[in-house]
Amino acid sequence: MRQPIIAGNWKMNNTIAGTKALLTDLIPLVKDAKAEVVVCVPYTNIAAAGELLKGTNIKLGAENVHWAEKGAFTGEISADMLVELGVEYVIIGHSERRQYFGETDQTVNARVKAALAKGLKPIICVGETLEEREGGLVEKVLVRQTTEAFKDIDKDQLDNIVIAYEPVWAIGTGKTATAQDANDTIAIIRGTMAKLYCPKCAEERVRIQYGGSMNPKNASELMAMPQIDGGLIGGASLKAVDFSQVVKY
Ligand code: PGA
Repeated sequence: MRQPIIAGNWKMNNTIAGTKALLTDLIPLVKDAKAEVVVCVPYTNIAAAGELLKGTNIKLGAENVHWAEKGAFTGEISADMLVELGVEYVIIGHSERRQYFGETDQTVNARVKAALAKGLKPIICVGETLEEREGGLVEKVLVRQTTEAFKDIDKDQLDNIVIAYEPVWAIGTGKTATAQDANDTIAIIRGTMAKLYCPKCAEERVRIQYGGSMNPKNASELMAMPQIDGGLIGGASLKAVDFSQVVKY
């Protein structure tokens, strides 16, 4: 029902030369993957990546998008600019954007709307910090982040949106949520979507990834959990063999 989706989040890594090398290695390794495969690359690499990915099963993604159509936003990139380069997916609200670049639930929602309006598919990131987890706030934070991100988003769009649950304390730290814990927390997010839309929509049409130190060693255990529909992969997406092993979990 819900096709698994594994997406790489390269973050601020790889020049164009590095992009070409990595994708040239990756393409044959994942060509028979059953999961949907996406690579989200830095803006400057999108054109080169797009050329290489033509005719392959790997889909092209970006790591952010601005909410305005155009205008005086120095350093920002619009949805039209991404669409022109063949981008299909875009990460929105990654915890690093929330932590270092002033991203809020409201700007996440604005970006999601701008992306959808141009036919881009958002990968919306939610997740609690260690402090929030230790303070018993996981559910509260996730319900708030999810509810705000989906404000004024029509039910018809649910097939075009992916949610990534990324506990902030697990990102790039080597600490993974246990598979059971990730599963149970994703169930909270799905439950929120059921309330916001409908139980059947949440069950059949909302794909929710886990992200945070997911790698070839833990991918199969995580992907075996009924609530987990995929992964958003940082560090392990920078090596073709590692990423292909996650893709094929
Ligand atoms: P990580 O990053 O796999 O390196 O923990 C995941 C992410 O931040 O999307």
